[in-house]
Amino acid sequence: MKLNDSLKARYLCLQILIGVFKKKKTVSQTLEEQYLCMHSYEESDIARAKRISDFIFVYLQGLDNCINLYSEKKLKLEVRNILRIVVAESFFDEAPDHAIVHSAVQLSKLSKSTKYYSGLVNAISRRILVYVQGDNLILVSVLEEKLRTYLSNYYPNEVIKRIEKLMTKKAPLDINIKNFEEINCWKEKLNAKKLPSGILRLQNPKGLSSLPGFKEGKWWVQGASSSIPIKILGKISGVEVLDLFSAPGGKAMQLISAGAKVTCLDFSLKRLELLKKNLIRMNMKAKIINSDIRKFESRIKYDIITIDAPCSSSGTIIKNKDLPHLLPVERILNLTTIQDESLDLARKYVKEDGVILYCTCSLFPVEGEERVSEFLVKNQDWMQKAICPKEHGLEAEWVDSKGGLRLRPDHLFDLGGMDGFYAAILVKNN
Ligand SMILES: C[S@@+](CC[C@H](N)C(=O)[O-])C[C@H]1O[C@@H](n2cnc3c(N)ncnc32)[C@H](O)[C@@H]1O
Repeated sequence: MKLNDSLKARYLCLQILIGVFKKKKTVSQTLEEQYLCMHSYEESDIARAKRISDFIFVYLQGLDNCINLYSEKKLKLEVRNILRIVVAESFFDEAPDHAIVHSAVQLSKLSKSTKYYSGLVNAISRRILVYVQGDNLILVSVLEEKLRTYLSNYYPNEVIKRIEKLMTKKAPLDINIKNFEEINCWKEKLNAKKLPSGILRLQNPKGLSSLPGFKEGKWWVQGASSSIPIKILGKISGVEVLDLFSAPGGKAMQLISAGAKVTCLDFSLKRLELLKKNLIRMNMKAKIINSDIRKFESRIKYDIITIDAPCSSSGTIIKNKDLPHLLPVERILNLTTIQDESLDLARKYVKEDGVILYCTCSLFPVEGEERVSEFLVKNQDWMQKAICPKEHGLEAEWVDSKGGLRLRPDHLFDLGGMDGFYAAILVKNN
């Protein structure tokens, strides 16, 4: 099947929607698969497909309400996805009406599951266009229902509403400077904002790899919140660190630039390749181990073990707008086991006076606070060391009553928010 140019972005967008809503695959997974297909997508096709699909993920309820006005609620998902693109495109008002309808009909003809619906798609699309152009479409950003209900057990409605508001905006892009003394120089060169966590936030970045300092290894991409856990470790020059779940290396690079001797461990060869590339670009060195943590054994003990555990990634919803539709709540149960196993492993291989740093980019206490509490109940010779916000230039409300770091997407709201993150420092209590 050969796609003409006007259909490419829309076809890719449709594959993204099928991936998320039907196969429960992330946007990145679908994009990777599509690269392997025969269609040669331009950068602009990918950007447009992502822009439309992100819009659909954020405003899904309003878009579906519009479609439901002209169809049965039980409309086949594959047909509904095509119509979701039509509503989004009508709202953007960037393409001529006939092109929007024509491409929707073409899209429906491309697949066995929708080809008999092309007449229906044609008729509904025309009616949608009239409806949207009459300014009748009301769009409100509302989190997917199950996720919203789950989060409301832990966060006030006001917080959830602020997160929903931030989801309508483009996620910010943050970078970490290798040599912190140069931060003001890079702030000027990159026209960036300096955040309280000592990270630079880029304004409208384009072509990351062509920005000054990228090729020279002066900085790497790392979100404001994911950089804070390593900062709270304080002075770590010369210490031996085992960085569990290390790839693609954001935290490892921070540890190395703070002078630590780092061993990186991850089971994904593909992600370790990315880590190696990052280290080469940054002119940094680390020992790299490709292993599942469940099979890992060590003859030596470490001063610090950092655990950036696999999790629901629910903290990253401003960045990954597909995430609320990928069953984040259902996925938790499979993940708490590996989170507990990683804490057990760290306990075994950390020195007597050593430190375990446990963190996740999750908003769910069951992946953060509760894992740490369970660990402390099982291991009464361990305790949580409280993080002092003042000492690290953090806002007082970012630290919870037990001294753990609890970051939310709506923190730094006026600057565009940040990822949700949890971190705790654990030490022996002797
Ligand atoms: C949250 S990411 C780590 C991000 C990284 N620490 C950073 O700062 O760039 C989680 C990583 O855990 C790895 N992982 C998941 N399960 C694992 C396991 N059982 N053993 C080893 N690595 C695993 C994944 O391949 C992934 O790279």
